[in-house]
Amino acid sequence: MSPRSTDAFGIDFGGTGIKGAPVDLVRGEFAAERVRIKTPDPSTPQAIAEIFVELLASFPDATGPVGVTVPGVVRHGVVHSAANIDERWIGTDADTLFTKATGRDVHVVNDADAAGLAEVRYGAARDRRGLVIVTTLGTGIGSALVHDGVLIPNAELGHLEIDGHDAESRAANSAREREDLSWEHWAKRLQKYYRTLERLFSPDLFVVGGGVSKQSAEFLPLLDLDTEIVPAALRNNAGAVGAALYAAESSESAGSSGSAGRQG
Ligand code: BGC
Repeated sequence: MSPRSTDAFGIDFGGTGIKGAPVDLVRGEFAAERVRIKTPDPSTPQAIAEIFVELLASFPDATGPVGVTVPGVVRHGVVHSAANIDERWIGTDADTLFTKATGRDVHVVNDADAAGLAEVRYGAARDRRGLVIVTTLGTGIGSALVHDGVLIPNAELGHLEIDGHDAESRAANSAREREDLSWEHWAKRLQKYYRTLERLFSPDLFVVGGGVSKQSAEFLPLLDLDTEIVPAALRNNAGAVGAALYAAESSESAGSSGSAGRQG
């Protein structure tokens, strides 16, 4: 399905910052300068909803559907996990909460799934067929499985158990920072992580996103894999761009077939 609306709005809700901007869905880029607001602590659903209201008020001309990323499992608008955010999110119907609070047509999607959609449509995995695994290396490890352009939502491959550990606790960028690891040391952990993914999924391409992908030249060449592995192209904008794309497509399919077209 190709996007028709060109004025969807994307909001990327992360553990440290909330970023939002209107998105040009033809080009896959921000249509205006984004606004960033520090994530409140605690990041309760109500506190976040209030920030979204404020954020949307800064862009009165952007009237289209709104896509929101959440760093947790999202099924039919309901958040089911909260590894790195306030645990009060678990069980929250975020679609309904944000739609009521903002009076807008809001669609919520897992952050890595949003990044995956954006990379496949506009970025490093554009025009690639087969299985693409997009991973985001940040506070946690996010993952998106996209097969022939179709997202299989909520893969949660950051929580694979490797050597008795939750993979993200050792291989996320936050582990590199926390333990002050050299690129070489961190790359050894990444090597094990991507080898495990390779063994389990036989993907055609890995895309590596998250803020640290800016420094991919420091660690990607240290990996020895059978699968091609490339840095994300949209960098930190992938979440918001992907969320806007998701919202536009969810809104279109709801318009044409009730809510049957909604995913995860
Ligand atoms: C969460 C995922 C999320 C990832 C990146 C993980 O801890 O379980 O849902 O995509 O972090 O934020």
